[in-house]
Amino acid sequence: MERVFSGAQPTGNLHLGNYLGAIRNWVALQKDFECIFCVVDLHAITVWQEPNELRSNIRELAASMIASGIDPEKHVLFNQSQVSAHAELAWIFNCIARIGWLNRMTQFKEKAGKNRENASLGLYAYPSLMAADILAYKATHVPVGEDQKQHLELTRDIAIKFNNDFGVEFFPQPDPLILGPATRVMSLRDGSKKMSKSDASDMSRINMTDDADTLAKKIRKAKTDPEPLPSEAAGLEGRPEAKNLITIYAALTDANVSDVLVEHGGTQFSGFKQALTDVVVEKLAPITEEMARLKADNTYIDAVLAKGAERADAIAQPILKEVKEIVGFLNR
Ligand code: TYM
Repeated sequence: MERVFSGAQPTGNLHLGNYLGAIRNWVALQKDFECIFCVVDLHAITVWQEPNELRSNIRELAASMIASGIDPEKHVLFNQSQVSAHAELAWIFNCIARIGWLNRMTQFKEKAGKNRENASLGLYAYPSLMAADILAYKATHVPVGEDQKQHLELTRDIAIKFNNDFGVEFFPQPDPLILGPATRVMSLRDGSKKMSKSDASDMSRINMTDDADTLAKKIRKAKTDPEPLPSEAAGLEGRPEAKNLITIYAALTDANVSDVLVEHGGTQFSGFKQALTDVVVEKLAPITEEMARLKADNTYIDAVLAKGAERADAIAQPILKEVKEIVGFLNR
């Protein structure tokens, strides 16, 4: 049985990287897989979240997933904290994963920064909760952006160690699906940094809630270099900002980078940026509008998430029950 699981954090500022690296691929996978999509609010609180903002961000993320094309009737869409199996299995995995494994996680190092002693214990254990998200459903495929690859390797290690420790063939080793041309969308201000929700500069990212004027301004001001665009992909080497803008264009128009360069090679950035703005506005405007419409209806979103949580729970509970048997706990 093949099952897709993926999630995103409700920490605001959902951006084009999240869309191209993840959500757009989730939408496509719905055709061929049974899919479970999760608003990972337990992960969000590994760094401080203001409660009212968190509540609103959970609903906004759910709305943006539906607006992007996630079908909550055919597939499962819910928020993590409503299904207790995630936290329960994460605890068991905390006792399977080794401290040395977690010490190697680059995302923890980045997020904790210099003041590691002051990071929450939850931030450290974050990847173990992520493994629980996936394995609570015995998911086989996990569509994510490039930055989550290391966490998925850890998920596989936890699955293997659990199976070995208890002498069972219980958990599958899920495969990452890192799909499409835009697996790592970069900042508009610095082509060596990924586009991120937490970048202090809003000009660095294209938010899913930006209006057409804001999008145009951000793209116009995006960092570039003085050379015209190259005519072949090899000419993008050493030009990270140019590469990023071309990649975004290719991803949004379902073309490959070489085709885009055949069309735009030799031209100046100003003209290309106008073409890119048109494409971004054309693709994002319908999603942004639908998001705004859905966001105005909390009752609908809350009902979708509650129903999704019930369905997720029905899949996870029997698996968790078996895990408890394997570990040696008593079940009710
Ligand atoms: P999060 O919320 O940071 O991001 C959601 C998805 O967006 C992708 N992404 C990007 N892709 C391309 N370019 C970028 N600049 C970019 N920035 C973000 C991420 O790779 C991700 O796929 N830990 C996860 C959430 C999570 C999860 C899971 C994912 C929790 N449990 C289980 C899969 C399975 C995260 O923080 O994603």
